Amino acid sequence: MLRFLTSGESHGKGLTIVIEGIPAGLSLSEDFIAVDLGRRQKGYGRGRRQRIEQDRAEIMAGVRHGETLGSPIALFVQNRDWANWTDAMAIEPIDKEIEKVTRLRPGHADLAGTVKYDFDDVRPILERASARETAARVAVGGVCKRFLEEFGLGFRSHTVQIGEITADVSEEINWDAVEESPVRCADAAAAERMVAAIDDARNAGDTLGGVVEGRVTGVPIGLGSHIQWDRKVDGRLAQALMSIHSVKGVEIGGGFALTRMTGSHVHDVILPRERWTSGMWERETNNAGGTEGGITDGQDIIVRIALKPIATLPRSLPSADLRTGEEIAAHYERSDVCVVPAAGVIVEAMCAIVLAGTALEKFGGDHMRETLRNFRTYQETTGPRDLRE
Ligand SMILES: Cc1cc2nc3c(=O)[nH]c(=O)nc-3n(C[C@H](O)[C@H](O)[C@H](O)COP(=O)(O)O)c2cc1C
Repeated sequence: MLRFLTSGESHGKGLTIVIEGIPAGLSLSEDFIAVDLGRRQKGYGRGRRQRIEQDRAEIMAGVRHGETLGSPIALFVQNRDWANWTDAMAIEPIDKEIEKVTRLRPGHADLAGTVKYDFDDVRPILERASARETAARVAVGGVCKRFLEEFGLGFRSHTVQIGEITADVSEEINWDAVEESPVRCADAAAAERMVAAIDDARNAGDTLGGVVEGRVTGVPIGLGSHIQWDRKVDGRLAQALMSIHSVKGVEIGGGFALTRMTGSHVHDVILPRERWTSGMWERETNNAGGTEGGITDGQDIIVRIALKPIATLPRSLPSADLRTGEEIAAHYERSDVCVVPAAGVIVEAMCAIVLAGTALEKFGGDHMRETLRNFRTYQETTGPRDLRE
């Protein structure tokens, strides 16, 4: 019911996005989408590209007088860097000789992509494999967040680990501190050490990865379904998060740590009504991370991603040449040292995209009035059965 496509090369004219399925009557502005695009560009460890770009999604269709029309929403995010690549990335045939990239970079799509698509140049592969595409996803995530705001959902993310430095997350997260931190980490002491670790990696011509956590609040019970593998919300979240560039692992709730605990310590005890403070079903813990049986259980959704260190190294790795197969140092092109802080914003976007899809499946509707009417009617039926009005 909700679908989108992105198009665009990293150094092409820009990113084009078409989103279909958002109901009519949702207020939406370029300024709203711009907030997350700006957040994605920040973070200690990013390269010079982020100083060139000032991402803003222009709404090209699907919105009139500040409200969605129910028609496809088209967005365009311009690449300012395009001005420096007009020959190398020209749309029309070009007379000049453009140098081919043949020094394969391990950790990128370079080898597999050129073999698969039968290119003698890595450029066509690296341009689309680039995480520049995540700007488009964050724009889509912005639209989905705006939609889900109407249901009371909120999205947060923070950095848990960079390289060997792990944040203390035992206290309640101070979200303002996260947004102000150069590495989007709530633990100020750990953040300082993370910044130093990024400096060390940069000075050594190396790169760093890490772990980011995303949280979604205000999630109703009942998004996703247990009835088929591809309708399970945890499965859909895992696919969406794993598709983010550099991601090598996804956890939901307690994740891998749950394997070291016994069942009696893992499962989230359902509290009796007299202990509820919110007027709705409550649990003692949230080890499940907000999903049971592929359905949201009314608790916050908690997800974590593991990002490998950036694959383009200033001190190039040994590699082989695409043409000859002979030993050669891997290609180096201006690059980020650590993208863990930025990844949190992309995690929020991917969660918003998945949850907007499941919310539309559950509540339907062509206009927001209809969608929200369905939502409110449903909410009235989610309490204990004998107590329903
Ligand atoms: C926000 C973000 C920015 C990234 N920037 C770079 C970069 O500057 N240089 C680089 O080599 N990889 C960068 N990456 C990672 C690559 O895009 C990614 O490793 C590559 O496309 C291979 O895909 P895979 O790691 O998912 O297998 C970035 C990833 C993210 C999430």
